[in-house]
Amino acid sequence: MAVQIHLGDNLDVMRRFSTGSFHLAYLDPPFNTGRRQAATRIRGTPDPDGTRVGFRGRRYRTERVSGPSFEDTFDDYPAFLGPRLEEAWRLLDPSGSLFLQLDWREVHHVKVLADALFGRRRFLNEIIWAWDYGGRSRRRWPAKHGNILWYAKNPRKYTFRAEEVDRIPYMAPELVGAEKAARGKSPTDTWWHTIVGPTSRERTGWPTQKPLGILERIVRVHSAPGDRLLDPFAGSGTLGEAALRLGRDAVLVDCDPRAVQVMERRLGVSACP
Ligand SMILES: C[S@@+](CC[C@H](N)C(=O)[O-])C[C@H]1O[C@@H](n2cnc3c(N)ncnc32)[C@H](O)[C@@H]1O
Repeated sequence: MAVQIHLGDNLDVMRRFSTGSFHLAYLDPPFNTGRRQAATRIRGTPDPDGTRVGFRGRRYRTERVSGPSFEDTFDDYPAFLGPRLEEAWRLLDPSGSLFLQLDWREVHHVKVLADALFGRRRFLNEIIWAWDYGGRSRRRWPAKHGNILWYAKNPRKYTFRAEEVDRIPYMAPELVGAEKAARGKSPTDTWWHTIVGPTSRERTGWPTQKPLGILERIVRVHSAPGDRLLDPFAGSGTLGEAALRLGRDAVLVDCDPRAVQVMERRLGVSACP
C-alpha cells in the first residue's frame, strides 16, 4: 500500500487529480477558532523538589512547552472552505463518501454550505465525537465534542461495511445478560473516544491531531482494502497512518512544511517533489 504526501495549498494539489479517483475523502480544516492552534507538551526536568515522582522515586519538575502552531482565523470562512469542498467532491468516485470534521463554532454554517454544494439528500449522518479530557469551565458547559458530517455521492449506493463496525461495552451490562454484555454493542452516531492527550503514545506534537481510533473506524467501515483515500488538510497524517494499517492507499496534503516533516517522520515516506 502507498501513501503520497504533498506540500502545498490543497486547492492547487487537488486540481491535479482526475475526477472520481478517490473512494473516501476526510477533511479536517482549521476550525476558525479565531486564535493560533498550538501544540504543547509536558517536559520533565529532574528536580529534588519536583512534585512528580518517577522511576526509582526520582523527582521531576514538569512544565508545558510550546510546539508548532498554525493560524486559525478566517475573515470569510465559507469563501475559503467552499472551493475546497467542491474540489474534494469532484475527486470522489460515484459511490464515494466525504467526511468533514468540524467543531461547534462552525458546524451549522458549514452544514448549510455543504448541503447547498452536495445536495441535502446526500447528507447521511452527523457523528458526534465526544471526549471527557481536559479542563472544565465553571462559567458554562465545557465543550467536549467534535462534529463529523458524512455525505455520500450516491445516497442509495455507498460503502458502509456493517460487519467491520467494532463493538463497544454496554452502559448498563447488568440489564442485558452475560452473553450480550460479553459481545458488546455497536456504536451509535455518538462516538466516545479520548483525545490525543499530552502524554499519549500517539502524539506527534502537531496541534489538533485527531485520534487514530476515530480515523480507523471511518476507514474500516467506509472503504475497502485497496481503495484510495484523500486527506487535503492532513496535519500530522492520522488518516495516512489509518490507511497504511488497514491496507488502503492515501494522498495527504498540507500547506505547512512543518506538518509535512511530521508526516514524513510518522509514516516513513518522503514528500513528493
Ligand atoms: C485541523 S489540522 C488537521 C489535523 C489532522 N487531521 C491530524 O490528525 O493531524 C488542519 C491542517 O490544515 C492545514 N491547512 C490549512 N489550510 C490549508 C490549505 N489551504 N492547504 C493545505 N493544508 C492546509 C494546516 O496546516 C493544518 O495542518
